[in-house]
Amino acid sequence: MSTRSDQAMSTQPSYVIANWKLNPATLKEAVSLAQSIQPATHCVVGVSPSFVHLSAVQAALDPAIALGVQTISAQTAQTGAFTGDVSASQATDLGATFVLIGHSECRQQGETEQILYNKIDHALSVGLSVVYCVGEHKHEYEAAKTQAVIANQLALLESFASKLTANTDANQFAKLLIAYEPIWAIGTGLMPSLHDIEQTHRFIKKVLLGFGICPPILYGGSVNQDNANDLSHSSYIDGVLVGGASLKAQAFNQIIGAFS
Ligand code: PGA
Repeated sequence: MSTRSDQAMSTQPSYVIANWKLNPATLKEAVSLAQSIQPATHCVVGVSPSFVHLSAVQAALDPAIALGVQTISAQTAQTGAFTGDVSASQATDLGATFVLIGHSECRQQGETEQILYNKIDHALSVGLSVVYCVGEHKHEYEAAKTQAVIANQLALLESFASKLTANTDANQFAKLLIAYEPIWAIGTGLMPSLHDIEQTHRFIKKVLLGFGICPPILYGGSVNQDNANDLSHSSYIDGVLVGGASLKAQAFNQIIGAFS
């Protein structure tokens, strides 16, 4: 079995992406956290702060670190009468290069397939890379339904396949990445076994190859400085999406270190 260090010799970088969610509480903390993140070689590092912190975080980040957003409007890629929304083009204008779409915390608030489709469409139309999140509930995992659930969530990507065949942009950031995040592993300290994660990643890859696309596949859910090393050694895991541990500078830098 080839390992990630073998892969590092090849062209694909690994990805370590922070999802700060609705954190931290103050601009000062966001800036200080952003200043402490260290870029790495062979590893693309990305940070997705809250919209209100976007510009200040961008100014504080090392320029080698990619800036992202946690969502975009499903209504339009541009501007319009959509109170409270932020569009893909506004995010791009502020320097964001990627967006998280389909995170379970958003799906649980009623993100339908049509909404997800629109968001992906808007993102790609303005050149924002998409980190598309998929994952199953605990009861689905226990009933061995993980693959069925994920196949369902991946299905809408088929219509974007023709736009994704050359899957990197000018900065070598993939246009599409998948984050496999079992819902029961998010913020809980629980995680599937490495074997189970690898099996699911292999399944995702097989489904997407069927659409003619081969994006990097990240794992997310309770990733921390202690388990990052094991995850980084798997040739089936192209990186991680990190919530809680990305809010602690030292832990996040250690995770980056494991993947670089
Ligand atoms: P976690 O969150 O690392 O805190 O489990 C991951 C995520 O929600 O993307």
